Amino acid sequence: LRARVALNPAAVVAPVNRRTFGSFVEHMGRCVYTGIYEPGHPSADEDGFRADVLALARELGVTMVRYPGGNFVSGYRWEDGIGPAEKRPRRRDLAWRSIETNQVGIDEFAKWAEKAGVEIMYAVNLGTRGVQEALDVHEYLNHPEGTELSERRRANGAEKPYGIKIWCLGNELDGPWQTGHKTAEEYGLLAAATARALKSAEPDLELVACGSSSSSMPTFGSWESTVLEHAYEAVDYVSCHAYYEEYDGDLGSFLACATDMDHFVSSIVATADAVGARLKSKKKINISFDEWNVWYLSRFQNAPPPSEWEVAPRVIEDRYNVADAVVVGNLLISLLRHSDRVTAACQAQLVNVIAPIMTEPGGPAWRQTVFHPFARTAALAKGDVLETRVDCPTYQTARYGEAALIDAVATHDPVTGGVTLFVVNRDQENPVELTVDLSAFGADLSVAESVTLTDDDVRATNTKDDPERVTLRPTTQIPTGAITTGDGSVTIALPRVSWTALRLT
Ligand code: AHR
Repeated sequence: LRARVALNPAAVVAPVNRRTFGSFVEHMGRCVYTGIYEPGHPSADEDGFRADVLALARELGVTMVRYPGGNFVSGYRWEDGIGPAEKRPRRRDLAWRSIETNQVGIDEFAKWAEKAGVEIMYAVNLGTRGVQEALDVHEYLNHPEGTELSERRRANGAEKPYGIKIWCLGNELDGPWQTGHKTAEEYGLLAAATARALKSAEPDLELVACGSSSSSMPTFGSWESTVLEHAYEAVDYVSCHAYYEEYDGDLGSFLACATDMDHFVSSIVATADAVGARLKSKKKINISFDEWNVWYLSRFQNAPPPSEWEVAPRVIEDRYNVADAVVVGNLLISLLRHSDRVTAACQAQLVNVIAPIMTEPGGPAWRQTVFHPFARTAALAKGDVLETRVDCPTYQTARYGEAALIDAVATHDPVTGGVTLFVVNRDQENPVELTVDLSAFGADLSVAESVTLTDDDVRATNTKDDPERVTLRPTTQIPTGAITTGDGSVTIALPRVSWTALRLT
């Protein structure tokens, strides 16, 4: 099988947004406790953070982390997590039917974020709370000094304001499972009022209104339309959330699920722009794809709820295989392709809970398969995203109809001249020979790096005892050195079910 892609440095979609490589830390399962935080662990630092996890988070290349939820935030009282740790209350977390000890709160998380070198995306509770509590947490986190709550922060050890710029106005309030679930009308009014109040306190905040929890929600589209009718001028983003899994062994459909993400983004962009047109607004609302990943959600939904109220139980600790990693690489291709409108995104979540990083309490931390495409994309996507149209065969899928066998996106750094192509082969049987036409670059380019994630066993996983079973390997059958072979192209063989990054300088 053969495919072709022609790249042109003049065909720029948008700059690569560093916030595309966001992640998510929710107080859920073992993401916080025995995930990022485990005093007593052999690698724990002076603040109780696991140094092994911090090192992996840095290696992953995460730029921004959404915190503290998720469904958790819709019943959370942020002030439970400040002040002397021994005085903090234990509470029920209704979202995950577990016990929250509040030993980590925003002051601790901000310390972790600084050590990890990430920006915080802070979510406020608009499930059980409202405008006043959002203003209170903003005053605590961002007001410089001289008011009750800013002084309380200073007394708790953070003299300078945290300066958090990007704020989520609640979480998934379209979902009946959400504590404090609302109609679009109710939420639109609350989001608009909260956004206006927060912006009176700090006009240049970037605010994210909740969009749909998935593209299969019955209110998909109409929810965004109604919410934005109320909140358009006060907010900057609308969120999208999407999780994908392989159903009933239908690997072909699963490998094509990025087409759903493409459709999700273009539908919400169209919806937001239609509201903007109706309101005669010149402003554009961008997309914060602040929860996305592979998640075997149906397994979770089919399992009985926990009978005990536990601290940090093992919840949705999915083990990812090779196909899952190829899909994660493909979802990043989709996000990058939409960089003109998707200007923030968070893989959900960072540690243990549907996560690229796994830990054992008291034991090791290791990289899941999905770690690798994320880390390499975050490291190599630089400069501008280029329009990337692939000429390739297609195949039929049960869920998404006709889908391309190859999906790709390229970035070009005008400063260094480097070009990187991120590409997946969705074919389950055959390698595909891909010719990359670089003649429009007008200069010789050489292959500096080409790495592929693939395996004879598409179900292979990494485990604590075999953590390097699935990793990136040099792409086989790739010419090295100068590649401008007369016609300025390079040809690369993409193994079946694979993700590849090809970097040229
Ligand atoms: O990431 C897990 C959960 O998925 C989040 O808490 C929620 O927002 C979504 O439904």
